[in-house]
Amino acid sequence: MRYHLLALAILAAIPVAQAQNALLIPDTLSGSTFQLTMDEGTVSFFQGQTTQTMGVNGDILGPTLFMNRWDSVTLNVTNLLDSDSTTMHWHGMHVAPQNDGGPHHIIAPNSTWSPAFKVRDWAGVYWYHPHLHMKTNEHVSKGMAGMIIVRDPLEATLDLPRHYGVNDIPLVIQTKDFDANGQIITESNTDDVLMVNATLDAYLDIGAEVVRLRVLNGSSQRTFQLGMSNNMSFEVIGSDGGLLEQAVGLTRLRISPGERYEILVDLSSYQGDTLALMSYASELPNGIFGATNPGHGQMMTMNGYNPNAMNGANFDLLELRVGAPSAHALYSTPDSLVHHAPWQQANADATRSLTFTPVTMGQNQLNGHFLINGQAFDMNVMNYSIPYDNIEVWQLTNQSGIAHPFHIHDVQFYIIDRNGSTPPLYEQGRKDVVLVPTMQTVKFITRFENFYNDSIPYMYHCHMLTHEDDGMMGQFIVNSSTVGQAEFAEPSIVRIYPNPSTGRIVISSGTDMKWIKLLSLDGREISFQQVSDREVLLDLPHESGTYIVEVMTDDAVERHRISVAK
Ligand code: C2O
Ligand code: CU
Ligand code: CU
Repeated sequence: MRYHLLALAILAAIPVAQAQNALLIPDTLSGSTFQLTMDEGTVSFFQGQTTQTMGVNGDILGPTLFMNRWDSVTLNVTNLLDSDSTTMHWHGMHVAPQNDGGPHHIIAPNSTWSPAFKVRDWAGVYWYHPHLHMKTNEHVSKGMAGMIIVRDPLEATLDLPRHYGVNDIPLVIQTKDFDANGQIITESNTDDVLMVNATLDAYLDIGAEVVRLRVLNGSSQRTFQLGMSNNMSFEVIGSDGGLLEQAVGLTRLRISPGERYEILVDLSSYQGDTLALMSYASELPNGIFGATNPGHGQMMTMNGYNPNAMNGANFDLLELRVGAPSAHALYSTPDSLVHHAPWQQANADATRSLTFTPVTMGQNQLNGHFLINGQAFDMNVMNYSIPYDNIEVWQLTNQSGIAHPFHIHDVQFYIIDRNGSTPPLYEQGRKDVVLVPTMQTVKFITRFENFYNDSIPYMYHCHMLTHEDDGMMGQFIVNSSTVGQAEFAEPSIVRIYPNPSTGRIVISSGTDMKWIKLLSLDGREISFQQVSDREVLLDLPHESGTYIVEVMTDDAVERHRISVAK
């Protein structure tokens, strides 16, 4: 354990001690091919000490990847770690299971893994990190993680700050534990060193204007309670899976491991002032990693949790030194952002209940492992087989003494119920992580659309990386049993015209198509043809009416409704 000097703000409005280091802004990569190389590195965080790290294209963290929705991208992920296998996962992105980078997609040392997919995600903040079973925490703690920023045409029409590093700032917030020699301890509850973008004690020179902070909690375990040092309000505009319907004004915002929020802070009247983005962890209720007590019971203790100056205290995350506005300054923000059409519970095909319990009950439970439905992760057990295109409600019940941030791969979901109540507005957008407090139940709804594969699974797990590595994880496949049924996935990369049509249609896709089915509205197959092309002519039946065209592209199935009027 190491006692690092934290700039503790005892009273919110008191100016804090000067931060030391300019915030590092990660480099960027964009285009259609991304080269990511994982390797060991070194960083000198502390005078006279060299810390062994791991990074992507550098000593620690990785570049921010910019992607456009509907672009085809290829990621060449090369593992140059000395004798350590790993994987790389695109957290939050809706990709086929073979491209997901979970524990099954091992990249051996000195080899390259090259997933390729269409970006189907809404504009927002996603991230990438290794996901090797039992090694995720080690690989992430040592430094491998990076942000992905997706842009799309809708977001582009909104008046939002989007000059990276100027008024659009990536913030990867992490806590770590160091030993006396300055080395990262990867299995520890004594994470007493805070870093933002791998910078200790960070400050940022920023303009007196509206700034957009893209906050990712990349910590292994710790939850933060975001707020400004002067208690001014800020606007939450986006959550894990993209923009919210409306900006939500708040003075506090809780963010647990794996979660992302985009917030706007109006600094226009603060030129010459120094403010800080803080964590008001003193306000976290007990039973959350980050609060005074990690367990909800006073007597529950966790090895190494105390003493730690961060637990239950208020501290700076980032000092903001406000100067002249930038050349790209905005002074107002849009209230209404994007439209959401969440799935309705009445349309759900299935409900699944997942219950979290400790392996050992009682006061010492926080030091043990945690289970989902009484089971620990087993690579050889498929926990769920979900019919393709299912709309499902997942009900998460936490019967353990600590809050767990639950994460699911493949899909974004909508929280429909937080312990009997409608979730707060800022949690009504698309999400892939949700913090489930102790002794509470959270329900979400989602749809397993676009991808199926009868053998390659996706994961769900607690995003406290210690819990995940210790087996608080499960896997599911999206099976093909329902392929061909007449439902409609989200519109996408396939175009069909003319529609309505009189006899013949053109089907075109930005990527190779594998087969095309024509179905009646009730799901009866009228024709099927194998193709391997990006543009296909299809002759339609003689009767006028509405039909469904189902197209398999290189990695997804899409359905379109087409009307024929002869
Ligand atoms: Cu951020 Cu399964 O992961
Ligand atoms: Cu994920
Ligand atoms: Cu957990």
